[in-house]
Amino acid sequence: MIQMPSLKEARLRKQKDVMVQTKQYIQDKSLSQLGKGKTYFIKTYGCQMNEHDSENIKALLEEMSFQETTDMEKADFILLNTCAIRENAHNKVFGFLGRVKNMKEKNPHVIAGICGCMAQEEVVVEEILQKYKWVDIVFGTHNIHHLPKLLHQIITQQEKEIEVYSKEGDIIENIPAKRDSKYKAWVNIMYGCDKFCTYCIVPYTRGKQRSRKKEDILKEVKQLIKEGYKEVTLLGQNVNAYGKDFNQNYKMENLLEDVALTGIDRIRFVTSHPWDFTDEMIHVIQKYQNIMPYIHLPIQSGSNTVLKRMGRRYTKEQYLTLFYKLKKNIPNCSITTDIIVGFPNETEEEFKETLDIVKECQFDSAFTFIFSKREGTPAARMEDSISIEEKNRRLQELNQLVNYYAKAANEKYLHKIVPVLIEGYSDKDKNKLVGYTDTMKLVNIKGDPSAIGNIVKVEITDVKTWSLDGKIVS
Ligand code: SAH
Ligand code: SF4
Ligand code: F3S
Repeated sequence: MIQMPSLKEARLRKQKDVMVQTKQYIQDKSLSQLGKGKTYFIKTYGCQMNEHDSENIKALLEEMSFQETTDMEKADFILLNTCAIRENAHNKVFGFLGRVKNMKEKNPHVIAGICGCMAQEEVVVEEILQKYKWVDIVFGTHNIHHLPKLLHQIITQQEKEIEVYSKEGDIIENIPAKRDSKYKAWVNIMYGCDKFCTYCIVPYTRGKQRSRKKEDILKEVKQLIKEGYKEVTLLGQNVNAYGKDFNQNYKMENLLEDVALTGIDRIRFVTSHPWDFTDEMIHVIQKYQNIMPYIHLPIQSGSNTVLKRMGRRYTKEQYLTLFYKLKKNIPNCSITTDIIVGFPNETEEEFKETLDIVKECQFDSAFTFIFSKREGTPAARMEDSISIEEKNRRLQELNQLVNYYAKAANEKYLHKIVPVLIEGYSDKDKNKLVGYTDTMKLVNIKGDPSAIGNIVKVEITDVKTWSLDGKIVS
C-alpha cells in the first residue's frame, strides 16, 4: 500500500481548525511472535523528539519479540529515524542509505525502513520511490503506532509499505517506551508546532500543535517516579505554548506546578519559544526547587529586521527583557540559545547585531547554524545574495564568541560544589563517571560507581569549554 505525504495538504491546516482526539494504543497480541529470532537496528537523527520516538519504536518492536542489536550488519530490520531540519541532516541520511543498500544486496531478506521527519516530506518520499526502490517501509511521525501492522504486511505479503499522513494524527496514549536511561526520561507534553517561523520545516513535518491532557502527563510522571526515575524533561517544539490549543485555562505554568508537586527530583523543559514565556511561569520556576535553573531560549538573531523576516514574533528588546527577568528571578540560572547565521540577505550590520547580543547575554552555550533552505518554507523563496563562503566566515566568527562565553560561564564553577545526577560511566574515560549539574553542565567525575543513579555533591576541579571535571564530595 502506498499513501504519500503532501506538502499542500500539510499547509492547508493554517486555514482550518483540526479536531484532535486522544486514543489509546492497544497491543495486537496476535503479532507478539512476528519478530521471534529476528533483530533490529535503529539509527536516530535529529532532536529529542526523535530520540523519544525511537524509544517508543524500540518498545513496539520488542512487543513483537524483535531484539535490539547495535551491529547493523547483523540486523534483520534496519530503520532510519530521520531529521529534516537542515540540508546536512538530509544528506547524512541519503549517505547512510548507501550502506543499507549494500547490506540488502548481500542479504535480501533484510527489511529496510525510513521514518521520522524526512518521511513527512513529499520530495523525499518521491525520491525514495524513484531512486531507492529497495526501501521496504516508510512511515511518518503521525503513525508510529501502525508500525506493527506495517511490518506484519511486509513480512506476510512482501509488498512495499508507504504510509505517511500529511495531516497530524490524533494523540495516541499508552505507546510503550524502551527508555535509554534508567534515571532521566523524556516526557512529551505536546506535539507539533503552530509558529511557522519562515525558515522552519517542523510545522509541516510534525503537524499542528496538540497538547497532551494533563492527566496523561501526570500519570506518566508518577509512573516514572515509581520506576526510580530522578529527572523528567518535558518535551515539545514550543513547550511554553502548552495548553493553548485546549481552550481551557490550564497552561504551561499550571502543568509545571503540577509536575513539581509530584515530587520528582528534577524537572526540565525544552524548547522555550520566547514569545510564550509568561511571568507566571517564572514565578512557578522560582517557587519549586525541583524545577531546574536552566532555560534553553533560542534567539535565532540579534537583529530586529532579521527576526521579522524569520517570523519570530519578538524583537531583540523583548528578548532582552525576558532574558534579564529570568536572570534576576531565578538565581544561578543558566541560559542557552540557538542562532542562525546567513538568513537570506542578512547584511553585515544585521550579523554584527547578532554578535552584539551574544556579547550582551554571554550565553552559557549556543547551538549555531548556517541557514539551510527547506523546500516549501517561505524563507526558501526569499532572495539571497550572501555567498556560502561569507556565511561560513560568519559562523566561525560567531562560534569563537560563543565558545569564549561558554568557557567563561564554566570558569565560574571552579572549586564550587554543585549537585549532579550521576548517569553512568563516561564514554571517553571508562574510569570516570558522568552526569549533569542542575544548570545542565556536563561533568566528568572521579568517584565511586555506587553513586550512579543518585544526585550527589560534586566539587569542580577543572573547567573546559564544553564540560567540567569534578570529584564527589558526598
Ligand atoms: N522549536 C525550537 C527549535 C527547533 S529546531 C524553537 O523554536 O526554538 C532547532 C533549531 O534549529 C532552531 O532553533 C534553529 O536555530 C535551527 N533551525 C531550524 N530550521 C533551520 C534552517 N532552515 N536552517 C538552519 N537552522 C535551522
Ligand atoms: Fe520551527 Fe519556529 Fe516551530 Fe521552533 S517555533 S519548531 S523554529 S516553526
Ligand atoms: Fe529534526 Fe524533526 Fe526534530 S526535523 S529537529 S527531528 S522535529
